[in-house]
Amino acid sequence: MTSANRTLASPILIGLMGSGKSSLGKRVAGILKLPLIDLDDYIVAKAGCSIPEIFSQYGEAKFRAMETEALKEVIHKHAVIATGGGIVMSEENRGLLKNNPPVIWLKACPEFLANRIDGDKNRPLLASGNTLNKVKELAAIRSPLYQECSNFCLPRDNMKKKEALDAIMQFLSTWPTD
Ligand code: S3P
Repeated sequence: MTSANRTLASPILIGLMGSGKSSLGKRVAGILKLPLIDLDDYIVAKAGCSIPEIFSQYGEAKFRAMETEALKEVIHKHAVIATGGGIVMSEENRGLLKNNPPVIWLKACPEFLANRIDGDKNRPLLASGNTLNKVKELAAIRSPLYQECSNFCLPRDNMKKKEALDAIMQFLSTWPTD
């Protein structure tokens, strides 16, 4: 029996901007034949405006509150969930993640991430300043939090998408389901 036709747990993907949560999440969801819930897309659909608009019109704190509300709404769904990079900043969110394993941390070095996201207009945290410095700053604060909330860490720099996908599926095949 291969991992594709066994019942595998539905994972939550966490990690910094640019770590590939949405794109790998889509591939994992395809293999597991589950829907992908991209939390940023979910928030945008619910709010009826883009993430930069939410930040500029209501502020980051409002976005974070919407993010927690969205996480609570989707966390028990049988789906693959791709979160936004800042999900671990709230203690409440960290509690929700820890109570709903498996959580997979897509870990990558700041250089890898900055290359992928530099100039992205849809990410308000990058609106000003140097992208690499910003990513380094976020990594320093968030890495221990990603570590705390995850059951599996995938170091994904120098890994092709297919290798990363295989490593995730391999991990999931070891994760007990009920
Ligand atoms: C954020 C990451 C973004 C999005 C928002 C804030 C962050 O999601 O939720 O711009 O705080 O790191 P991605 O990680 O999918 O880019």
